[in-house]
Amino acid sequence: MNPILRWAGSKRKVLSNLRGLSPASFQRYFEPFAGSAVLFFDLLPKSAVLGDLNPEVIATYTAIRDTPEEVCDYLYSVPKTREAYYTLRELTPETLTNTQRAARLVFLMKSCFNGVYRTNRQGRFNVPLGSHFFSLPTRDDIYSASNFLAEVDLICGDFSTAINKAQSGDFVYLDPPYSDGNRFRGEYSYQGSFQSADQERLILACRDLTDRGVKVLLSFKECETLCHGLNDWSMRKINVTRSVAGFSHSRRLAREILACNY
Ligand SMILES: C[S@@+](CC[C@H](N)C(=O)[O-])C[C@H]1O[C@@H](n2cnc3c(N)ncnc32)[C@H](O)[C@@H]1O
Repeated sequence: MNPILRWAGSKRKVLSNLRGLSPASFQRYFEPFAGSAVLFFDLLPKSAVLGDLNPEVIATYTAIRDTPEEVCDYLYSVPKTREAYYTLRELTPETLTNTQRAARLVFLMKSCFNGVYRTNRQGRFNVPLGSHFFSLPTRDDIYSASNFLAEVDLICGDFSTAINKAQSGDFVYLDPPYSDGNRFRGEYSYQGSFQSADQERLILACRDLTDRGVKVLLSFKECETLCHGLNDWSMRKINVTRSVAGFSHSRRLAREILACNY
């Protein structure tokens, strides 16, 4: 099924590569950098763990799983206007219920500039309205997503927390954000967001998962540290179009690596 969130850096365009490289069978599926979780919504595993550092993403999936009807009612009550966009943008998510947070995030991401999630130094979402309002997911889409999320553990936090639970026979898909070292310029720019400095601990995590018998697929922007650190893994290079710094005028072709330990 189609993902519910519009998300910069989503794996929609390379989904067939990911699907082709995913193991034919596994026990539990883990996606600790979930975002719009394109691969999860394609594979529809029976048992899964989805994680993300962004609390809005996890609140959204939690509400869609537990209260899909209320999410729809709120979502479809918002008019597609500039005023409504900025009114929703100014709300403080921590004061809202999960249902309200879910409807707010789905609406903002479908209407914001380039589908980028970025916050200011105070942690407030500050992306301007985009050029048009994309169609919202239908009620059927949200109810289907709710069914597929029914048995999913949702974890808000660093990727290391979600993968702790992976065991032999499980499959982990890792899709860390592109990073240029400036946390206010990336696609997901907020406190704690994955940076180049985190690549070393990602390599250690990959080694640890391998030792525990877990199958791991990792996608990343071509870089010396990860290519060198995982040089005994099987690697495939693909070209993807990415918007650099979240601006469409700087969209360009990037080289991405798909690496796996199986
Ligand atoms: C490239 S996106 C994932 C896109 C996803 N594969 C999809 O198909 O939409 C990376 C995600 O990692 C999240 N993230 C950033 N830093 C993180 C961290 N340290 N631990 C866990 N998630 C993180 C971001 O919020 C973002 O949703």
